[in-house]
Amino acid sequence: MNLDVFTLFPQWFEWFRTQRHVANALELGHTVDCIDPRESTPLKWGQVDDTPFGGGAGMVLRVDVMEAALRARYGVDPESLPAQRRVIALTPGGRLLDDALAGELAAEPDVTLLCGRYEGFDERILEHFVTDQVSIGRYVLAGGELAAMVVSDAVLRKLPGVLGKDESAVEESFSVALEGAPEYPHYTRPADWRGWAVPDVLLSGHHERIREWRHEQSRRRSLP
Ligand SMILES: C[S@@+](CC[C@H](N)C(=O)[O-])C[C@H]1O[C@@H](n2cnc3c(N)ncnc32)[C@H](O)[C@@H]1O
Repeated sequence: MNLDVFTLFPQWFEWFRTQRHVANALELGHTVDCIDPRESTPLKWGQVDDTPFGGGAGMVLRVDVMEAALRARYGVDPESLPAQRRVIALTPGGRLLDDALAGELAAEPDVTLLCGRYEGFDERILEHFVTDQVSIGRYVLAGGELAAMVVSDAVLRKLPGVLGKDESAVEESFSVALEGAPEYPHYTRPADWRGWAVPDVLLSGHHERIREWRHEQSRRRSLP
């Protein structure tokens, strides 16, 4: 997968790239590249935003600046991009990120993430250059960078070979294997701590009963 992140703060992703599973993805040949729209802005002094028409607080990311950045990266009119790749704007009001969307994106060869800042994007960016708007929750962050990392993290860990054990990403919270329910509880040594004992079934060595118990616990956790 080639993941391109358009951000005014590319240095934020230096840390992200060093995280074990992200580093694994890079070693496997996937890419996580950052593109700074300031590098290609047609405006003077690195300007990327402007005051909103109609008045109001804050600044808005300009459509001409985002067009120039996308054009410089892909060498095409960005209006044609939605037909070629997933171009996702991070917005608080977008489609909520969930396991199904992460899985959908993990199947894409090329994904572009646009990080907003300030008041957000000029609406024409969303209308003409973007395939999806994605939100990581119904709250407002200062910028799209953390949201882009959340999306990237959820997507990259689904790629084969990225986690130490691929099965880790198969049977986990919200997965198809658990019928969309939260994961069952885990325990490790000691088997008894201050009288808090691990459920007997997990010590029984009876794999089928353990499997049934876990699925039952998972189902219970999905109940309102
Ligand atoms: C301060 S926010 C803009 C909020 C916008 N004025 C509004 O009220 O919806 C700046 C940028 O942060 C990102 N952002 C903030 N909260 C987000 C969320 N919950 N999910 C995804 N992106 C978010 C978006 O890229 C957004 O353009």
